[in-house]
Amino acid sequence: MNLDAFAGETLDAIRERGTYRRMRVLGGAQAARMEVDGKSVALFAGSNYLDLAHHPALVEASAQASRDYGCAAGGSRLINGNLDLHEALECELADFLGTEAALAFNTGYMANVGVIPALVGRGDILVSDELNHASIIDGARLSQATVRVFPHGDVEALDRVLAECADQSGRTLLVVDGVYSMDGDLAPLAGMVESARRHGAMVMLDDAHGTFTLGEKGRGSAEHLDVEEGVDVLVGTLGKSLGSFGAFAAGSALLRDLLVNVARSFIFSCALAPPQVAASRAALEVVRDEPGRRWQLQCNAARLRARLAAAGVSTDPSCSQIVPVQIGGNARTMRICEGLLERGFYAQGIRHPSVPEGTARLRITLMASHREQEIDAFVDALCDLLAEHPPEAAAAPKA
Ligand SMILES: Cc1ncc(COP(=O)(O)O)c(C=O)c1O
Repeated sequence: MNLDAFAGETLDAIRERGTYRRMRVLGGAQAARMEVDGKSVALFAGSNYLDLAHHPALVEASAQASRDYGCAAGGSRLINGNLDLHEALECELADFLGTEAALAFNTGYMANVGVIPALVGRGDILVSDELNHASIIDGARLSQATVRVFPHGDVEALDRVLAECADQSGRTLLVVDGVYSMDGDLAPLAGMVESARRHGAMVMLDDAHGTFTLGEKGRGSAEHLDVEEGVDVLVGTLGKSLGSFGAFAAGSALLRDLLVNVARSFIFSCALAPPQVAASRAALEVVRDEPGRRWQLQCNAARLRARLAAAGVSTDPSCSQIVPVQIGGNARTMRICEGLLERGFYAQGIRHPSVPEGTARLRITLMASHREQEIDAFVDALCDLLAEHPPEAAAAPKA
């Protein structure tokens, strides 16, 4: 079969399942209002939670870095790409997060597929929450460790798995997300970390959505839930709340040294570009100086959840700036997504395989800069559309 025939057949099957995706074209800087497919809409999608992507301090820092350093690092960190800028960012990240050290990766995806195989391999065990991010699943596959999956957020089940692993030879690594990217709930880290400690497992926390948005100091889910001491490796991104690009793994100095030596996605890839690194450094300063941004973000999320609850719309289990409204059917989900766009709001419909089959949803994300009126208008539009498009079974009852 030639490539086009194969691609056509595969795409037909995807269309038949109702999970065909296309990329929307957005215009302008990432902000609470943007152009989507040529139309100005209020944005309730994306991860620029603190609205830093177009902050003047970041824009100026990245422009200055372009002038001083050019647009590329020009190679991998272990050859010619290790700039003083990278080292400074990593020191500042470690200082902010209260860890001994940090190491930058090019994306959160690359951090997970680099860190996991650096810590466990064949003969070891990786213990993973069933709703962990795809990059953790791929990192687990690459590691060749035995993977034990436990039901989402179930500390008792996790404890049983970890107890069984404790009897095996080899290392055990527990990996969980801090804030689940499709449900907006928080991992019950206190019980998880306690169980891992009791059974001698290492703990890795992917806090892509929690760092800089949660915790008194903005250090994320582990700070928020007071378990920072129990986390061995913290992975976070620079491309979401920080409004820049890249990611990091933070922990001990020995962890950093190990990753520099063995993490393949770090070693065999060009270093982050200077403008991105400079923007991340500037963003970190804004996050330090303006804690009000993360408080406002969480206030906005609470308002959205409360307004939807008052209208009888469940946003369970969200308790963060990621707020899902489960719709169920793929077609209904996408009709409501399109309806919102027509009314001037963009919240993305999410279908399998990003979420389990039958749980298609609208994934609404807040920003610190959303206004109350925008949130309320969004809720009104969504409630109208939910009523206009009842669930498929209710819309077409069998005779
Ligand atoms: C939990 C989680 N981990 C990792 C990633 C990957 O991060 P990045 O977009 O920087 O590759 C994401 C991205 O959506 C995520 O939600």
